[in-house]
Order: sequence, then C-alpha cells, then structure tokens
Amino acid sequence: MTQDLIKAARHVRGNAHTPYSNFQVGAAIRTSSGAVFVGCNVENVAYPEGTCAEAGAIAAMCAAGEYEIFEVAVIAGGERPVPPCGGCRQKLAEFAAGDVPVTMVAMDGSMQTTTVADLLPGAFDIEHLKAGTKISGP
Ligand code: THU
Repeated sequence: MTQDLIKAARHVRGNAHTPYSNFQVGAAIRTSSGAVFVGCNVENVAYPEGTCAEAGAIAAMCAAGEYEIFEVAVIAGGERPVPPCGGCRQKLAEFAAGDVPVTMVAMDGSMQTTTVADLLPGAFDIEHLKAGTKISGP
C-alpha cells in the first residue's frame, strides 16, 4: 500500500513548477476512504506565494470533500529523505486521523518513516484554541 503512495508521489513530483529552487517535491495522501490525493510544489516569481507539495495534496483532498489523513508519502531530490517543512507539519496535523505514518523518500529509493505526531510534538490544536477563546467581556 505504501508503495502505491510512493509511486503516486513520485509521479506527481514530475509536474512540480520550480523555476526558482529547481527542487521538486511530490506528496501523496491516503484518506480514510482509501482514496489517494497528490500534490507538487508550485513556485511563484513572488517567492512567498509558492506552495508546498503537501499543501497541494491537502487542498485536493479537501476539494474532494475528504478531511481525514491516514498515510502520507513525500518524495524529493537529494540523497537523503526530505521531511515536510514546519508549515506543512501543522497543515498535516490539522487532518491527521490518529497515528499517521509519513514516509519520506529520496530519489534513490532510500526512505525513512516517522509520524505526523513525531514531526510536530506539542502541536497547537483545537483544545488550545478553545481554552483561549474569549466568549465575552475583557
Ligand atoms: N517544499 C515542499 O514542497 N515541501 C516541503 O515540505 C519542503 C519544501 C518546496 C517548497 C519550495 O518550492 C521548494 O521545496 C524549496 O524550498
């Protein structure tokens, strides 16, 4: 199963738009329904407007009406598996259903598996938000 996810991530990586970094990333997400959603990084001449591969896959998942991530694969260039950036860790945590494995793959096939929780210990979550939400008054 993980191999299918890696294959999907590897394939979509080929569509990355990376004229500025020349660093292509592909991501694939399996949801609770078993469906797979993919994304690649899309850069912009206004650099901060670029989006990560994981963000693209998450956007595709939500657009399809799905909101529960079961498994993630990320593939990028270089000799070592590349971990999701900080912002993407928070984005993945938003939809992680339980202990979600994240497999990071390098182009030579070497890989490393961790979990969303291990990538973002002490994550800001809904409980923090509720505890600090001001209902009324000062
Ligand atoms: N990138 C991703 O797509 N995902 C990550 O988690 C790490 C970084 C992209 C963003 C940018 O297009 C390029 O890699 C270099 O930072």
